[in-house]
Amino acid sequence: MAEFDVVVIGAGPGGYVAAIRCAQLGVKVACVDEWKNTQGKMSLGGTCLNVGCIPSKALLESSENFERVSHDFDFHGITATGVKIDVAKMLLRKDKIVSDFTSGIASLFKKNKVTTVQGRASLLGRDGEFWRVAVEGSEEMRARHVIIATGSTPRALPQAPFDGVRIVDNSGALAFTEIPKRLAIIGAGVIGLELGSVWRRLGSEVTILEAAPAFLPVADEQVAKEALRTFTKQGLKIHLGVQIEKISSNKKEIALSWKDAQGVAQELLADKLIVAVGRVANTLGLGAKEAGLKMDAAGRIEVDEHCRSNLPNVYAVGDVVRGPMLAHKASEEGVMVAEIIAGQAGHCDLNLVPSVMYASPEIAWVGKTEQQLKKEGVAYKAGQFPFMANGRARALGDTMGFVKILADAASDRILGVHIIGAMASELIQQAVLAMSFSASSEDLARTIHAHPSLSEVIHEAALAVDKRTIHI
Ligand code: FAD
Ligand code: NAI
Repeated sequence: MAEFDVVVIGAGPGGYVAAIRCAQLGVKVACVDEWKNTQGKMSLGGTCLNVGCIPSKALLESSENFERVSHDFDFHGITATGVKIDVAKMLLRKDKIVSDFTSGIASLFKKNKVTTVQGRASLLGRDGEFWRVAVEGSEEMRARHVIIATGSTPRALPQAPFDGVRIVDNSGALAFTEIPKRLAIIGAGVIGLELGSVWRRLGSEVTILEAAPAFLPVADEQVAKEALRTFTKQGLKIHLGVQIEKISSNKKEIALSWKDAQGVAQELLADKLIVAVGRVANTLGLGAKEAGLKMDAAGRIEVDEHCRSNLPNVYAVGDVVRGPMLAHKASEEGVMVAEIIAGQAGHCDLNLVPSVMYASPEIAWVGKTEQQLKKEGVAYKAGQFPFMANGRARALGDTMGFVKILADAASDRILGVHIIGAMASELIQQAVLAMSFSASSEDLARTIHAHPSLSEVIHEAALAVDKRTIHI
């Protein structure tokens, strides 16, 4: 029976990063994963690489280029006629990026001497200092430590079970072989808005039905308001406060019956339906209950701030535990746990996990929103600056949105940064770095920013906290 210091269950961004970090620290490690691609071959990288972050961003880029060439180039004096999209080619490009990355992880495992095992793993129980780990189709393994990184799966709606053809989850929505004429989406969260944007840009009529009365309640209210206005102007039909009643589907179309925010019955016909109403922790087949792993009310593995479960030497990281379901959070927890197992002082600050939405405009934030600070009774100062007054944004022709910085009224320490606009996904990192070093808004205001650059909007927003912007 093979013996390891650590067996990692799951090779998504939580698990594969944990395994590589363990190996770097001289810990003997194996990583087990059951994921198979459409050719039936093992595909490392979990949700993120196979059907999440990477393929969605590939399609976002292709669709954005299509929209720009079709509508935005005229303004630069460039005429493009007869612009067409070859969906099959677009999907092939996405699939190639995915397979390059998933095989890249296999190479990284080889380079770092991480043992890769294919199959579904479950915890069998303790045998002295070891955990016994069963793997379907392979021999049992023994491990001093186990890191569970089994991720999450899409939540289904009882009214709309996934059929993989008309009613799909994120995997299906990343693989439509034709542009649906009428696309319905349930859930105006990150997946609904990102994938809704992809297919709208390519020509679908997109209607999004959202149960919550407020749009993007996790974001800063002012950002959410600006985003709703822009998405609506782009043509996404977003209905808030809806109640889904009945969904029926035949070979031709899907019929959705729902009640609007006023309680009035509505009907919607669509060719495809994406259900994107959140994800649930994945502990299926893990033997968690039998092993005595404690779960929280939402079905996630309960862990402390160092990702320790209630069982000795069993850790859990990523989507399967509390906190935002984000790849970079999963990876950082994986690194922390590997370092703790190797006797180092691992650390992961969940208050500094940036959130990004890659629609256009991009939305990104870190730290507290204004509504959170108000609720917590924290006295704060706010500084804001629009992209419209920035030279680089004007040159790019991408001027919508703003940066808002929230700082403690007394100490000036930055408490939150909110960006809606061009390259928000890249700009937010400056804020994360500043906040990691407990910077004040004055620190940012005194930092020299290259000109002309989008980052100057952050600089000006920092100056605005002290009411001394230069360019407004
Ligand atoms: P996962 O990536 O889900 O990996 C879990 C792995 O465990 C899987 O490979 C699975 O096969 C394996 N597994 C499960 N159970 C077992 C078992 N019993 N035995 C063996 N193997 C098992 N996050 C971002 O930060 N940025 C983004 O842009 C982004 N975009 C996204 C877009 C979409 C469409 C989706 C769906 C998600 C997106 N996410 C994004 C979220 C991100 O994908 C997840 O937060 C991340 O993948 C979680 O990593 P993980 O390692 O915890 O789990
Ligand atoms: P989400 O939590 O972002 O959004 C789900 C939405 O569905 C919510 O607005 C919710 O109110 C709504 N909803 C729930 N039940 C409903 C119902 N019965 N009827 C109508 N609306 C309903 O979840 P989503 O979009 O599925 O994404 C899952 C996770 O994946 C995200 O939370 C995020 O962590 C991750 N992700 C991250 C991305 C990124 O970082 N750019 C991109 C895509 C996903």
